[in-house]
Amino acid sequence: MVMWVFGYGSLIWKTGFRYDDRLVGFIRGYRRVFFQGSTDHRGTPEFPGRTVTLEPAEGEICWGAAYKIIGEEDKQAALTYLEVREKQYDQKAYVDLFTDSTAKTPAVSGVMVYIGSPDKKLNPNYLGPSPLEYIAKQIVQAEGPSGPNRDYLFQLENSLLKIGCVDKHVMDLANEVRFLLSQGNGDYSKP
Ligand code: SIN
Repeated sequence: MVMWVFGYGSLIWKTGFRYDDRLVGFIRGYRRVFFQGSTDHRGTPEFPGRTVTLEPAEGEICWGAAYKIIGEEDKQAALTYLEVREKQYDQKAYVDLFTDSTAKTPAVSGVMVYIGSPDKKLNPNYLGPSPLEYIAKQIVQAEGPSGPNRDYLFQLENSLLKIGCVDKHVMDLANEVRFLLSQGNGDYSKP
């Protein structure tokens, strides 16, 4: 059986595994939020960064990119890779992918997506909602093995714009981070 993986964060611009097809599209009933703490990629255990997760949201959609993987070996390699890379995301969901907002039926069903749930027992790194200014300061400060947290945010903003998606939460946060950086050298005391 063919495997599909939906990316709504770094998987949009950095795939890291072999795939056979890429489809830009959206999933229904979720919104993208910078509520997931990252201590392994964009922060450290001492100063966690923030990455995106999905929050159930009736009537909302979340745009991203889905990857189709056909061969058995490629599927295994992709899964092995993703299980390490996305290890701080405690849930896998299987969702419908749409490419056309007027379509009643999905373009693809059973697309796997990684989610960081708000359950602190299962997902100890979950940070949840905070005021925009607070999240922005945290992002300005944080840096991890995969690089500065701000680069994650700016790359996400760019890759969403490239696929024609204006995500208000991401844009507002990117604008706030740019504002903070324009005010100084980004050396804030930890929030
Ligand atoms: C994703 O991209 O689908 C998950 C979140 C991330 O790795 O940034």
